[in-house]
Amino acid sequence: MVNIAVLGYGTVGSGVVRVLTENSKKIDKKAGTPVRVKYVLDLRDFPGDPVQEKIVHDFSIILNDPEVKVVVEVMGGLKPAYEFTRAALEAGKSVCTSNKELVAEHGAEFLDLAREKNVNYLFEASCGGGIPVIRALNSSLTAEDIDEVSGILNGTTNYILSEMGEKGSGFDDALKEAQELGYAERNPEADVEGYDACRKIAILSSLAFGHTIKYRNIHTEGITKISHADMVFAKEAGFAVKLLASAYKVPDDKGANSYFALVAPFLVRNGHPLYNVNGVFNAVYIHGNMLGDSMFYGSGAGSLPTASAVVGDVIDAVKHLSRTLFVFWDSEELKLVDNGSAERAFFIRVPVEKLSDARIRFEAKDEILSDEIKDEAALITAVMSENEFERKFAEAGYVISRIRINK
Ligand code: HSE
Repeated sequence: MVNIAVLGYGTVGSGVVRVLTENSKKIDKKAGTPVRVKYVLDLRDFPGDPVQEKIVHDFSIILNDPEVKVVVEVMGGLKPAYEFTRAALEAGKSVCTSNKELVAEHGAEFLDLAREKNVNYLFEASCGGGIPVIRALNSSLTAEDIDEVSGILNGTTNYILSEMGEKGSGFDDALKEAQELGYAERNPEADVEGYDACRKIAILSSLAFGHTIKYRNIHTEGITKISHADMVFAKEAGFAVKLLASAYKVPDDKGANSYFALVAPFLVRNGHPLYNVNGVFNAVYIHGNMLGDSMFYGSGAGSLPTASAVVGDVIDAVKHLSRTLFVFWDSEELKLVDNGSAERAFFIRVPVEKLSDARIRFEAKDEILSDEIKDEAALITAVMSENEFERKFAEAGYVISRIRINK
């Protein structure tokens, strides 16, 4: 039998206990030994909940119990999760986590420590909820030279954008629903401002490229400026608005690679694989030099999908109690190139009386009119660098909104 401890009995922690309880027979069989929760660490008590008898308020009880071989860190945030994770790994316990903030900030450091101690630091649930994309990067796509990882990595914002686009819901109502469904972060600013997706693409791209991409260096825009009018014109033109997180490399003239990363709302055309990724679903697109395209799709947030990924890691940790699984991510920093040089087309909304000027200024071909909003028009600009677009945008002075267009 292997004993584990769960740190945090919130949305994910309670899901982990439920998955372990409801699927215990299958889990024990797959782990090759019974997996039992010995402790649940939380500040609160849960009278009447079967977990109450396992509740402890002091982490040192878990740390000093040699029977606990695997610690599940699902508290979120950096403090005290950082100290607890370090202490657990140093004590020779494997750690499985859904804490993307902590993984993005300290992933390489914890992987080194886990290797040193012959244990594992596993974080499948940190990106894409229940989608097994990290395992695919670590063990299935190892023959590939990966040049792009992109996708929809935040369930809350995808839910909000889908509700706004399909049902015409207001931003605040859709956010409230996402919170009620258990998708949103405690502070939903992390979702709607793109910070959560930023941390996830930092993790995925660090795994894909093998070195550390610092999330602070990733240009990040959220969805708070997306309006009903954007949705109306986008739909009219056959696009959906999606918050995309993207990291890719481009070979430069000297044969080296330049790395780009960005989180921002994009227009995705009808027919593109990401167009139909709606609601809480996430999708991660990976391009490898031999494989070509692959896409991973599934529930991107919520208690049970996330918990299922955590428990998958627990089973792996139990099966490899004193052997570190290979993860290709070191602490050397991979420098990113400024997005100003990235080339793309933009969707802009302008007052109708500025249409002729905008058409010439932005070298726009297609224009979009709407029966619902008659005093505005939308245009799709020529492909240009972000810097050039920003210069034209500032010179024009009348552009109501702008959204990047996905290639
Ligand atoms: N708030 C996150 C999301 C939870 O909406 O995707 C899953 O990481």
